[in-house]
Amino acid sequence: MDAREELQSIIGDLRGYLAQEKNRGLTQVARSKAPVITPVTTPKVVTNAGKPEALAKLYQEYAACLNCPLGRTRKKFVFGEGDPNARLMFIGEGPGFDEDHTGRPFIGKAGQLLTKAIETTIGIKRAEAYIGNITKCHPMKDPGKPDMRGNDRPPAAEEMVSCLPIITRQIEIIQPDIICLLGRTAAQAILKSSDGIHQLRNKFYTMKYGSKDIQVIATIHPANCLYDPSNKKYLWVDFKKIKNFLAAD
Ligand code: URA
Repeated sequence: MDAREELQSIIGDLRGYLAQEKNRGLTQVARSKAPVITPVTTPKVVTNAGKPEALAKLYQEYAACLNCPLGRTRKKFVFGEGDPNARLMFIGEGPGFDEDHTGRPFIGKAGQLLTKAIETTIGIKRAEAYIGNITKCHPMKDPGKPDMRGNDRPPAAEEMVSCLPIITRQIEIIQPDIICLLGRTAAQAILKSSDGIHQLRNKFYTMKYGSKDIQVIATIHPANCLYDPSNKKYLWVDFKKIKNFLAAD
């Protein structure tokens, strides 16, 4: 694809995204110098009993999404999974090979490490948390080879813009007490920062979703602990903070 075709494709995706938001009640788009990752949904408070239904409805709304190019090359839409009433929510970058093939977040090698750290360091079961990603479809270096491992790449800005309303709405529905952002991509997108993960991690941020102030902490991505096991110490320190937060509340 040459630059002109690529631009036309991005404009087409943006048109589709805006048309969908208009259908959902968007009347105007705020102008901002900040990276375009501001949520555009109107927060609606959902009772605990209504959360599974609200998540199922959100899933239906986006499961066949073609708002960005990732929709055309995905095998599975990876919505997220876990307890709709979770106190703790994890947000990663986007599905990899295993997630794309199964439709479940964090089930490959990085996911197995995450699961182990949740259970041993935080001391809860994985299923007691809710796990999602910034993008719901697999960003690939070569989209023509969805069956090739090692084909992952971080999501592009326009892919994140397109997907961000979904995770925003998931947070608004679940209303967790604390969110853990896994890795730089998720941390920068949610905290609206361009700082690196080592600047962003190891501290608490307060973010308002709907009427609730939610504590947010960022940590290193579990995949980085696989590349370099010495990074596990950062995950351990940040997860201990989460454990203490949950125990204190
Ligand atoms: N990495 C992510 O960021 N998310 C997943 O679901 C799997 C790997």
